[in-house]
Order: sequence, then structure tokens, then C-alpha cells
Amino acid sequence: MEYKITTRDESQTLELAQNIASERFPNMIICLSGDLGSGKTVFTKGLAISLGIDEIITSPTFNIIKEYNAVEMPLFHMDVYRLNGDITTLGLEEYFNKDGIVAIEWADTITSYLPKERLEIKIKVIDEDTRVFVIKPYGKQYEDLCEAVL
Ligand SMILES: Nc1ncnc2c1ncn2[C@@H]1O[C@H](COP(=O)(O)OP(=O)(O)O)[C@@H](O)[C@H]1O
Ligand SMILES: [Mg+2]
Repeated sequence: MEYKITTRDESQTLELAQNIASERFPNMIICLSGDLGSGKTVFTKGLAISLGIDEIITSPTFNIIKEYNAVEMPLFHMDVYRLNGDITTLGLEEYFNKDGIVAIEWADTITSYLPKERLEIKIKVIDEDTRVFVIKPYGKQYEDLCEAVL
């Protein structure tokens, strides 16, 4: 099963992410891919809003990971663009079991390290303000989540 959702501005992408996060569970893994400027960070902002995080969310390209811990369920925001495909050198796989939500930008560059059960989101840029989100759940929890909110 695959879901295709079109957003026509940034606020609709924030809303989509908030809908998904409304069904959150610990160790939820959200894998984001799509070109630079497609909306991976905007989507992650939507997750953060839903979690009650009021810090500014920026792409953690240089830090690779940013942790937002001051809330009930933490957000672990990764951007693995500069990692050249190996996450174990930084021990990033530990975050998959820390009871937070994990959002991974450029997840398609590290597929062999990703948990089998996860939500895959590929973002396609249609024009300046239009994005198509192709959302694919892997595993029962993620299938149920998609059925509930999409
Ligand atoms: N429908 C949309 N959804 C998300 N972002 C959009 C949309 N339309 C325009 N944008 C703009 O596209 C850019 C996406 O940037 P960003 O989320 O940082 O991309 P990425 O993290 O994928 O490199 C932002 O400037 C945002 O305002
Ligand atoms: Mg980004």
C-alpha cells in the first residue's frame, strides 16, 4: 500500500506531518527523502509542532543530529546527507530505541541501516509550491497509522 498526498503550500505540509504525529508511538521512524528544498525539514517542523516543541527546527546538516528532549516524547532529527552512507560510526542507530520519534532526512542514502519497520516518505517537487508526498508504511504499526490518518 502506498499513499499519495499533494500539498499546495508549506502550511499543508505542516498539517500533514501533524496528522501523522497525532498517532505517534515510541520509536516511530520516519524516513524522508526528496531533493534539496523539497520539504523534508518543513515536514519535520510539523512533527515538532505536534510534539509541543517550540524551538526553531533547522536542517541538522552539519551536526547530523539534533535532539529535542524537553517534551513528553522526544524528537531526534537527523540529516544524514554528509554521512556517506554509514551511520554506525556515529552510533546513530542507538536513537532507534530511545522512545522518541526519529525523523531522518536523506534516509534513502542509508537504507541498509534503517529498521525494517518504518514509514517511508518520498517528496516530489511539482512546482514552486506543490509537493507530492508518496508515503509507504512498512510493518503493522505503520500500516495502522496510515489507515487512521491518511
Ligand atoms: N507544499 C510545500 N511543502 C513544503 N515546503 C514548501 C511547499 N511549497 C513551498 N515550500 C518551500 O520549500 C522549501 C522547503 O525547504 P526545506 O523543508 O528546508 O527542504 P529540505 O529539507 O527538503 O531541503 C521551503 O522554503 C518551503 O517554504
Ligand atoms: Mg532539510
